Amino acid sequence: MTTALSVHGSVRVPGDKSISHRALILASLANGASRLENILDSADIQSTAEALRALGASIPAFSAKMYVQGLEMHSPREPLNCGNSGTSARLLAGVIAGAGLKATLIGDDSLSRRPMVRVAEPLRAMGARVELAPQGGLPMTIDGEGDKTGIDYESSTASAQVKSAILIAAVLGGVRARVHEPQLSRDHTERMLLARGVQVHRKGTAVSIPPAQTIRPADVRVPADTSSAAFFVALALLADSGELRLTDVCLNPTRTGFFEVLRRMGADIQIIDRREEGGESIGTIVVGPAQLRGTEVTPQEIPALIDELPLFACVAARAEGESTVHGASELRVKESDRIATIVNNLKTLGATADERPDGFRIVGGKNPMRGKIVTQADHRIAMSFGVLGALSGNQIKVDDPGCVGVSYPEFWKELARVQK
Ligand code: S3P
Repeated sequence: MTTALSVHGSVRVPGDKSISHRALILASLANGASRLENILDSADIQSTAEALRALGASIPAFSAKMYVQGLEMHSPREPLNCGNSGTSARLLAGVIAGAGLKATLIGDDSLSRRPMVRVAEPLRAMGARVELAPQGGLPMTIDGEGDKTGIDYESSTASAQVKSAILIAAVLGGVRARVHEPQLSRDHTERMLLARGVQVHRKGTAVSIPPAQTIRPADVRVPADTSSAAFFVALALLADSGELRLTDVCLNPTRTGFFEVLRRMGADIQIIDRREEGGESIGTIVVGPAQLRGTEVTPQEIPALIDELPLFACVAARAEGESTVHGASELRVKESDRIATIVNNLKTLGATADERPDGFRIVGGKNPMRGKIVTQADHRIAMSFGVLGALSGNQIKVDDPGCVGVSYPEFWKELARVQK
């Protein structure tokens, strides 16, 4: 006999990962002290902090409220280890190039396989010398000592990491920059630069900054991570009864595409206590079980739910009818090849799923799911299948539960806490 899943309570998931990286980087580059509250304490953010310390920043051990003093940066003696974190590698590349430093960035096996040409190319055009490993990835050696030039960059992918690297390099190098992307990627860097006194102009999906600007310090309270909250939203929707509240969640529209898609599938997702704080929209999500229908996710929608697509796939496997995703080839170059990882694992569990070059197709069903998930050390794969594993009737083992430590170390504890 299977016991029904009832969920209850309130969860304040940890601080947003994208905002935490940027808060540390911008505080280290500002001319003064910044107070940072609720910074995410995870392996990815520790990678950024450690690299910034090696560049001369004064970052204390993490605590709920900490102060970072902006100091003159210097070239590090050792390579900077970015671990599993693409955001650390790409944003720090912008810092090194723009600040006129010399450094080598390294990472773990997964990060070393990820493409860095996309960031090397614009930084070279701005005057930095950048060398990559033969496969176009890490180790990446950057020499930013030469003269900087402004840039007008046409980005072939909607990548917030590439956009941020260019903007940060331009501010530090004192030059102008314009970045145009095919769709708008997350815009935390723009919002945070604005809040720190940097002029930022947006026109459609292009963003530009004038030359000769400085970064002022700013206090920040990091809101709860949209992408971490998404796991509990999915859990509540797929549960048999109950309700969950996710408090203090970052509701920046460049991040909330998953919730829009879920609404289209039949979810009732309420937002209460909505407010603006530090240039970001924040609120509490209230959600309970719903009958979901399959849907088509279009290329235009992808950037606003890119990190939630593994979770979307797991939800789609429980919805009625077919779901498809197109225009998401970026998933192939995330912490794992997420198209292959999602589809192979769903098939292991007996679900109907097919790969497409730029997405996948899933046919939902209600059969019990049994099997062992191969995460490829990818945190979002582990947590997405963790949600499926919590549903009544399913027995799912995750091969490497510890890999969640890069973004949400307490995930399994919280997942157990909200179930009854
Ligand atoms: C991030 C940007 C996105 C996202 C990643 C975090 C950021 O990557 O998938 O998890 O903080 O800028 P891309 O810039 O490669 O799209």
